[in-house]
Amino acid sequence: MQTYYSDLLVIGAGLSGERVAVEAAGRGFSATCLSIVPARRSHSSAAQGGMQAALGNSAMGEGDNPDVHFADTVKGSDWGADQEVARLFADAAPIEMRRLAGWGVPWNRVVAGKSFYFKGGEKFEKEEKAEKEGLITARAFGGTAKWRTCYTSDGTGHAVMCTMDNRCAQLGIQVLDRKEAIALIHDGSTCTGAIVRCMRTGALEVFQARATVIATGGFGRIYKATTNAVICDGGGHIIAMDTGLVPIGNPEAIQFHPTGIVPTDILVTEGCRGDGGTLLDVNEERFMHVYEPEKAELASRDVVARRMTEHMRAGKGVPSAYGEHLWLDIRHLGDKHISTKLREVDEICKYFLGVDARKQLIPVRPTQHYTMSGVRTNKDGAAYGLKGLFSVGEASCWDMHGFNRLGGNSLAETVVAGGIVGEKVADFLEGHEVSFSTAHMKDALGKAQSRINDIINCAAGRENVYAVREELQLALMDGCFVFRNEAGLNACIQTLQGTLERARRVGLSSNGKGVCPELSAALRIEGQVKLGLMIAKAALERKESRGSHNREDYPARDDKNWLTRTLAYWRPDADMPELQYEDASPVFELPPGERGYGAGKIIPADPEMVAARTIKKD
Ligand code: FUM
Repeated sequence: MQTYYSDLLVIGAGLSGERVAVEAAGRGFSATCLSIVPARRSHSSAAQGGMQAALGNSAMGEGDNPDVHFADTVKGSDWGADQEVARLFADAAPIEMRRLAGWGVPWNRVVAGKSFYFKGGEKFEKEEKAEKEGLITARAFGGTAKWRTCYTSDGTGHAVMCTMDNRCAQLGIQVLDRKEAIALIHDGSTCTGAIVRCMRTGALEVFQARATVIATGGFGRIYKATTNAVICDGGGHIIAMDTGLVPIGNPEAIQFHPTGIVPTDILVTEGCRGDGGTLLDVNEERFMHVYEPEKAELASRDVVARRMTEHMRAGKGVPSAYGEHLWLDIRHLGDKHISTKLREVDEICKYFLGVDARKQLIPVRPTQHYTMSGVRTNKDGAAYGLKGLFSVGEASCWDMHGFNRLGGNSLAETVVAGGIVGEKVADFLEGHEVSFSTAHMKDALGKAQSRINDIINCAAGRENVYAVREELQLALMDGCFVFRNEAGLNACIQTLQGTLERARRVGLSSNGKGVCPELSAALRIEGQVKLGLMIAKAALERKESRGSHNREDYPARDDKNWLTRTLAYWRPDADMPELQYEDASPVFELPPGERGYGAGKIIPADPEMVAARTIKKD
């Protein structure tokens, strides 16, 4: 049995995981990162548009500062975010962007002088100041008061991921790919690493560590239509949930991006609309400004996805063999802009649609994109329920996004939270001695091995994992998409209870030896269905609409009763999740109010409670 020891084990080698490892290694601790794929192919690499940070260098970002960024983030979250966390993030983001520049990220920079930009299809002039020439510039994104999204064309994630992976190499961090963590090692109170399956050989391996970080990204692949890579399958959430001790925060908070292309749901960046692209309907007419006069196409994502869906429901969708869609129009941005600042979009349209975005419209529709939900942690990134376990990035519910994340705030979160949590992990390592228990390791290993044997031997049945997964994906599309209601959620839960039974009877059609994607899928399927049930159950119980959680039968945001975060536990041998609630934000720097877009009814919170928790400023 191959056994590895390190101070820190990071499960997931995308941006947030590697950033934590960099921080810990910089403090002298040994760090190992595990990844299903080569680190540079992590889903972080797919992030296109950029990272929000209030640098205020560009002409359209003038007057920006972390206070404005904080306010945008809290409004974006529909007051679902933990405001202390949003504040930590907004303050640290500019520092982190400059640090990344020092590490080698080739940010787009300010070019002094006059230039044009587009808004709502119209052309305007702006002038960049000579004294700002060469500083990191920014583009517009949705739900923001200023242009704040730092970018490297539309390949920001790729550029930053390569830089971070180089940094890991420089610091001697061990990054191992084709490794999937399938169980945590713990004694009921402390986590000491993970049982890992080598995806090349099929062998089980033991990774023991004094601190373990889950940084496996989101779980979008449990939906049929998603922008997420196939690796975003909830692996990290499942091993945390399987302990029965660690809750998933806000499972009902799932983000739908307005512009997935049809039919493949590949992302075309919000940067298209930030740079002046417009959304058109079946008549090739703009419509967003009618619903949202202030922000139009650049309202926050939850609002745009909702308005697009309403518009299609009103008969204005474009019929197609793949279902209804709308159009994204970037033709007016011109050849130079498209082939420099939107070159990935250009290639995606060309290679996946056969569309020339300079001359043709791009078919788009809302599609699953992000999980605000995740392994619930405190503001140090420490998971609830198990000492020594941390989580960061999209895998976590830290929780700076609440019920709707702003575009550009997640790629920024990967590195900002990675730095903050990395420091806290290093502090923890400094003060934490651990003795690795052979008994607990052997127990976890034995359970993992017998689970694998049962699946290979079809001990419980021969259900096909891919058929079961599709049932899950379709049920969530039907019941837990942009709009939800009681009947749909109940139907979804009923279906998924059957799906859970099927998932428990999955057997292999292959022999399970060596490289075996079917076994990887089979090991995850029961946990994925449980995550689906958490989403549906939490969405059923939350009788209000907040951010991306839109209840047709409860359209008001109910601050009186639901200024809360859901904590969903899956206890051993349970058939449904157990839900608990905590305050969404222990304190308010920005008391609950109107967002300024996406107008809807608000049931106000108790004023005495708000006053008691509002931070007094001098
Ligand atoms: O549209 C985008 O470029 C996506 C960015 C994000 O999800 O933050």
